[in-house]
Amino acid sequence: MNNATILKIGGSVLTDKSKEKTLKSKEMGRIAKEIASAGVRDLVIVHGAGSFGHPQAKRFGLDVPGKCSYETVVTHETVKELNRAFIEKLVENGMLTMPVHPLSCAISREGRVENMMTDQIRLMLKNGIVPVVHGDVVMDRGWRRAILSGDQIVVHLARCLNAKMVGIGTDVDGIMDDDEVISIITPKTFGDVKRLLGGSRDIDVTGGMSSKVNELVKLAEDGIPSHIFNASRKGLIVDFLRGERNFGTIIRGD
Ligand SMILES: Nc1ncnc2c1ncn2[C@@H]1O[C@H](COP(=O)(O)OP(=O)(O)O)[C@@H](O)[C@H]1O
Ligand SMILES: [Mg+2]
Repeated sequence: MNNATILKIGGSVLTDKSKEKTLKSKEMGRIAKEIASAGVRDLVIVHGAGSFGHPQAKRFGLDVPGKCSYETVVTHETVKELNRAFIEKLVENGMLTMPVHPLSCAISREGRVENMMTDQIRLMLKNGIVPVVHGDVVMDRGWRRAILSGDQIVVHLARCLNAKMVGIGTDVDGIMDDDEVISIITPKTFGDVKRLLGGSRDIDVTGGMSSKVNELVKLAEDGIPSHIFNASRKGLIVDFLRGERNFGTIIRGD
């Protein structure tokens, strides 16, 4: 398969990251409508956890190695609530979607995804279904449990499915250098860009923009480009899905 498009919608877009367990319901509805209206085939959606995972993971210390406690389950159940709410909006807009929870089909080793079953995702695509995956708590070989970011899952799935394009919808206009959007990053120019990359302005246990771009540059080296754009701006999700590339930041090979 090399026709899959992977679209990540950041937790920053779907939730208010400054208030625990707070949906941006209207935004979620608008985003679901945009995705549905683009009518793209072979689409995999991944979403972040936003305020349905990051504050909980931080409070329960899930961002560092430790035992599998009741709180681990609570965090997983909380991000599933966000997944269910998003799927509901997608279904309301006529999309055939199914949830994919990484806890049930992936494991990590010291915080890095080691193995994720993708046969179910391939079969869903074959049957015209849009899988909706999310950042999650997973069982970890070294740390017992770990947080697997939506960003890491995106990159892993892009490799497994040999995706043709990866879209990263977030709450900023792209990779910023002061007020300017950097339109293209390649492995060659990445060295100069690194100093601009920080974490998140809100609680984000998975490293914000810095770890996102680190992952995406490695993906570009393997021949899969990605496009970071502001999913909070009306119309840009549709534009991305229709192949317009004249906004945001493109990360591609040299
Ligand atoms: N150079 C940069 N350009 C753009 N955003 C940056 C940069 N450095 C740090 N950031 C932060 O990264 C955030 C996006 O990452 P994150 O909060 O993890 O979003 P998401 O919820 O989409 O994963 C931005 O809101 C911004 O605060
Ligand atoms: Mg994030």
